[in-house]
Amino acid sequence: MLAVHLISFFFSKLQEDPTKKVDRFLHAMRLHDDQLIDISARFQAEMKKGLSAESSAAAAVKMLPTHVRSTPDGSEKGQFLALDLGGSKFKVLQVKVREGMGVRKGGVEMEEKIYPISKELLNGRAPELFDHVSESLKDFLRVKNISLEKKHPLAFTFSFPCEQTRLDKGLLLSWSKNCRARGLQGKDVVQALREAIDRTGGMDIEVLAMVNDTVATMMTCGFDDQYCDVGLIIGTGTNACYMEELRHVDLVEGDEGRMCVNTEWGGFGDNGALNDYITEFDQDVDATSINPGKQIFEKMVSGMYLGELVRLVVLKMTKLGQLFDGLVSDALMTKGKITTAHVAAMEE
Ligand code: GLC
Repeated sequence: MLAVHLISFFFSKLQEDPTKKVDRFLHAMRLHDDQLIDISARFQAEMKKGLSAESSAAAAVKMLPTHVRSTPDGSEKGQFLALDLGGSKFKVLQVKVREGMGVRKGGVEMEEKIYPISKELLNGRAPELFDHVSESLKDFLRVKNISLEKKHPLAFTFSFPCEQTRLDKGLLLSWSKNCRARGLQGKDVVQALREAIDRTGGMDIEVLAMVNDTVATMMTCGFDDQYCDVGLIIGTGTNACYMEELRHVDLVEGDEGRMCVNTEWGGFGDNGALNDYITEFDQDVDATSINPGKQIFEKMVSGMYLGELVRLVVLKMTKLGQLFDGLVSDALMTKGKITTAHVAAMEE
């Protein structure tokens, strides 16, 4: 009798719909509401550590003051240049803001040009990377017929963690994502840009501000909705900023008003806070990255890593015989062969 039961059990397994096997495999990696609530409580505890003077130096979620003290109120106007470095594309932009109107109403006009950056530049020496940035800026001025004689204000969106003491001064704390240009860590990024602009020559540029991409996003949305107090990026990397009451920001003097805080939440988990949620696939992605042990949360969710995570899961399932009749192709064995763009295309 028992034998019959066993045989019919195994038989039912053989007949099983393959998608069920996939579901069962993935089930263990699904997060339930109580786990999400737990993760959010842990995140809040890390935010507090980052804001407090006693614990901020060692905090995994850095909670960096940005020295941006307000969001747009409609009184802004003018024309300026902008650089956007640190996502999947490097861009130079010209931005025109007309007073009292929102982005959607056409009050903010932007023209942009993407300038490719080679892997060699991203992994080479920082001065050469910044020379490329500044030469691209000069090319943009020429292409768009913008006067080289006139002085132009410029804002720099630099999407890496920086310790800012002023709006136009920020020391690079560490590289992340796909960049690790040598010689900039611990140095002032605005100064490095100004020096490169001087080396290029022939332009009159005043670098007024440097902001993280989350801050730039929050400010841009602020033109449409003055109550927009959060900026959030899920792109190549992931991060968020928000307007915090100044009295909660220990590292900046004063209690009145608010300041935008760049959370750098990509580093959540760097101190082990997420260890019991990390899968073997997350561990593999981290171990083979350019910065093992760093940006743990970012590596679990963002665009630079999602494709590789999917490859590792599919590879494991294939090896277990749950997919492709157990046949592992060379491509599936190759790191980086599945990108997030592929995953997005499959989803569509
Ligand atoms: C990385 C950077 C962070 C940036 C984010 C999104 O996490 O450290 O500064 O905001 O990527 O681009």
